[in-house]
Amino acid sequence: MTRKDIPLPQPQMEVLFTPGDIQSAIARLAQEIRQDYRDKNPVLLGVLKGCFVFMSDLVRALDMPLEIEFMSVSSYGPGRTESSGEIRVVQGLRGTIRDRHVLVVEDIVDTGITVDFVLRYLRRRRPASVRVCALFDKAARHRVDVPIDYLGFSIPDRFVVGYGLDFDERFRYLPGLYCLKEDD
Ligand code: IMP
Repeated sequence: MTRKDIPLPQPQMEVLFTPGDIQSAIARLAQEIRQDYRDKNPVLLGVLKGCFVFMSDLVRALDMPLEIEFMSVSSYGPGRTESSGEIRVVQGLRGTIRDRHVLVVEDIVDTGITVDFVLRYLRRRRPASVRVCALFDKAARHRVDVPIDYLGFSIPDRFVVGYGLDFDERFRYLPGLYCLKEDD
């Protein structure tokens, strides 16, 4: 499917990445991760909610022994498109990650505050290693220095929806990545 063939969910949206673009990036990420984590039985730690679509495509593309965990943090209030900067753990880790190789799976890094918080939270639990895999990154918006070891796409400073990402809980179901047109 090309960008032109994708139906627009709302007229003021434009397609940033097609489902095909996203799947190609995931295949590339999976190849890199498989090389580094073969025989390590890593724990893939998804940061909810936005990661759920990416996580499920990534683990199937990886096709190797691994375990999954989720945690849920919140930094946006309803209707906001900016991080409040104050992170709350909504649901922490259930199992132990001590001496395990942990790969944090993030849908998108914006200011970097969430990933930074999650990395600190995990390191206190003494894993053997922690790395970060993010599908999208708005590098121009980082407010803290975050290491992204596996990155799908660098994207411009625009608010995006689809492929698990929402605006006020809407549009997570869209198979591609969309942003609002700038002239609207
Ligand atoms: P950060 O803490 O500013 O890096 O924000 C990370 C979280 O904010 C992500 O996990 C998303 O849930 C959310 N987020 C950041 N940018 C966007 C966006 O453009 N669309 C939807 N959600 C976003």
